[in-house]
Amino acid sequence: MARRVSEASAAGRRLSVVLSGGSTPKPLYELLAGSESPVRNWAPVDFFWGDERCVPPDHPESNYGMARRVLLDQIGIAPSRIHRMYGELAPQQAAQQYCGELRRCFGISENDMPRFDLVLLGLGADGHTASLFPGSRALEEQRRPVVAVYVEKLGSHRITLSLPAINNADCVVFLVTGEAKAEILRSVVDPADSEIQPPAALVRPSGRLIILTDRGAARLLKGGETNDPGR
Ligand code: 6PG
Repeated sequence: MARRVSEASAAGRRLSVVLSGGSTPKPLYELLAGSESPVRNWAPVDFFWGDERCVPPDHPESNYGMARRVLLDQIGIAPSRIHRMYGELAPQQAAQQYCGELRRCFGISENDMPRFDLVLLGLGADGHTASLFPGSRALEEQRRPVVAVYVEKLGSHRITLSLPAINNADCVVFLVTGEAKAEILRSVVDPADSEIQPPAALVRPSGRLIILTDRGAARLLKGGETNDPGR
């Protein structure tokens, strides 16, 4: 991320970064916001979100709220560079609003897909990523970049980028830690070896796919025990 931000800064262009929710990225955001941060100048960056819970921005569950507290409030980013999903709106309305925001930011028409520079994603133990859950109708979405979904297992609505929007990105980075994610990570990295095909395994961007993981989550990967840097 630091390299991409400095390249964008040197080239005088914008960099679109999609933040993930959940707990895994929080230490990353703290590092990026801290005195040891490798990023000195955030000016080129526009922040977006991969998904949002249907709650107000100050709700403890808000992905935007977490990133605001841990990262955005620390780095003095201009409000115009923060493009949150409006979780406080009715789900369909929030999805439509975000589609409009993406059209405005990327200068694209109704059914074009934005091309994000860098998308951060987490991985749920059930193989979901963003708010694309197993069996969800959202997995079939091919036309819109953002949809509202009702997540049965959570008993709540979410707003999420669709797979085409994620897969149109220049670079997608999964951040996965902990032994509890080892089985599902294997089914994402080596889908041929696994009878399940989780939603996260459908993330195959036109650009680069990077999976950052720790030894615990990588222990079932072929070569994972050697923590093969090539993977
Ligand atoms: C969310 C995230 C979701 C998350 C996974 C992993 O809104 O919760 O977008 O996709 O990345 O559920 O969550 P943890 O990092 O907390 O394991």
